[in-house]
Amino acid sequence: MISAWFKNVLPRGLYGRAALILILPIVIIQLVVSIAFIQRLFEGVTRQMSRNIAQEIALILTEVETQPDPAKAGSIAESLGAALAMNVSLPATQGAPVADARIFYDLSGRVVIATLRDAFPTLGPVDLSNLRRVRFVLGTDHGPMEIGFDRGRVSASNPHQLLVLMLFTGLLMTLIAFLFLRNQLRPIRRLARAAEAFGKGRIVPYKPAGAIEVRSAGNAFLDMRARIERQIEQRTLLLSGISHDLRTPLTRLKLGLSMLGEDADAVAMSRDVDDMEKLLDAFLAFVRGDATEEEAEMQDPVPLVQGIVEDARRSGKDVVLHAVEGAGEAPLRAGPVRRAVENLIGNATRYGTRAEVSLAILDRAIRITVEDDGPGIDQARREEAMRPFTRLDTARNQDRGPGVGLGLAISADIARGHGGTLRLGDSARLGGLKAELVLAR
Ligand SMILES: Nc1ncnc2c1ncn2[C@@H]1O[C@H](COP(=O)(O)OP(=O)(O)OP(=O)(O)O)[C@@H](O)[C@H]1O
Ligand SMILES: [Mg+2]
Repeated sequence: MISAWFKNVLPRGLYGRAALILILPIVIIQLVVSIAFIQRLFEGVTRQMSRNIAQEIALILTEVETQPDPAKAGSIAESLGAALAMNVSLPATQGAPVADARIFYDLSGRVVIATLRDAFPTLGPVDLSNLRRVRFVLGTDHGPMEIGFDRGRVSASNPHQLLVLMLFTGLLMTLIAFLFLRNQLRPIRRLARAAEAFGKGRIVPYKPAGAIEVRSAGNAFLDMRARIERQIEQRTLLLSGISHDLRTPLTRLKLGLSMLGEDADAVAMSRDVDDMEKLLDAFLAFVRGDATEEEAEMQDPVPLVQGIVEDARRSGKDVVLHAVEGAGEAPLRAGPVRRAVENLIGNATRYGTRAEVSLAILDRAIRITVEDDGPGIDQARREEAMRPFTRLDTARNQDRGPGVGLGLAISADIARGHGGTLRLGDSARLGGLKAELVLAR
């Protein structure tokens, strides 16, 4: 529970964490040093100085009390005081302090009063309300004596200077450290951005920079990206090469079959040839699924989805756009997204009878859902259905012709190319399959 609380409180970004690691020790050192300084040095020095002056006052007091005559005592007190740089009057004047007075932030003042009171049991009220003067009343055999002197004689002068200096250099150092830190973190952030974009199927220019570790991670990323790109390219070349080269003999075969006339065998064979052609088209569509040719463009998904649904209706499918929720733009490749949604609608109307499409534009993703009233797919077989060339056999609508088994694989591929996924589930509303195409924003 405590660790969960910590996780919530601590900053999540690298920048914040690094700043915390940097600032926390500085702040703690400053606090510790300040407290030690105020406690030990500042108070200690004040106490020592107060004791010294107490000795001088004790001298005056002894001299005064050995005098039998109050008038004589008064003049002795005054002249001794002058010699020791104090204002002494015996008896005390009208303006003598009547109560202890100290400004609340005057911490050393407390020590001054305590030390004087320790030294003189007959000490009266001490007035420190003027930060530059110490004034107090001391009881003697000849009545109350008033003493005043510069505050500088009992307290270290300008003690806050060290604190101010410390705070100032602390802030300055933190600022400098921040600037350096930012430069160190920038390459990491750039690498993260490049990796994130590549995950969403975008390629942003990236050059490794920064500390050795970041640089080597960046180089590793570039190698990886190059290899993946090369593999996609090779797969595309291979499959489109095969499809293309097969098409020529197939066309010849078709031509030969049409020469044979209306023979029953020939009709069956030409249907097979048609199937093969369809297969090749599906191959090509699969290959194009990654669609590295088309750049993602920021666009509003609403008209795109509306258009797809409209086109599907025109080609005779029972499809409606059920709901649109949210608004905003997303980086989409219109062609591939259209292909992916059309595959899902095709499945819905092939294995069920009608389809409902909904679109949700969320904070970080858009979700295109296609639901149908068909038999659905068992939970256990959903993964399998998304693999290329998989056809599930259960009571499917076979009279609409068998598929190739690439539709879902292509849609899933396109979703991944947009930094998203394809999810299959149960449609609560229609009872069939619910296919969700999630694309990153
Ligand atoms: N809406 C659906 N309802 C029920 N089963 C489905 C649905 N969509 C797909 N399936 C099952 O998943 C299998 C794989 O679907 P997929 O779209 O990948 O291939 P296909 O439809 O058979 O062929 P094609 O490549 O022409 O789309 C299908 O053969 C079918 O058995
Ligand atoms: Mg299909």
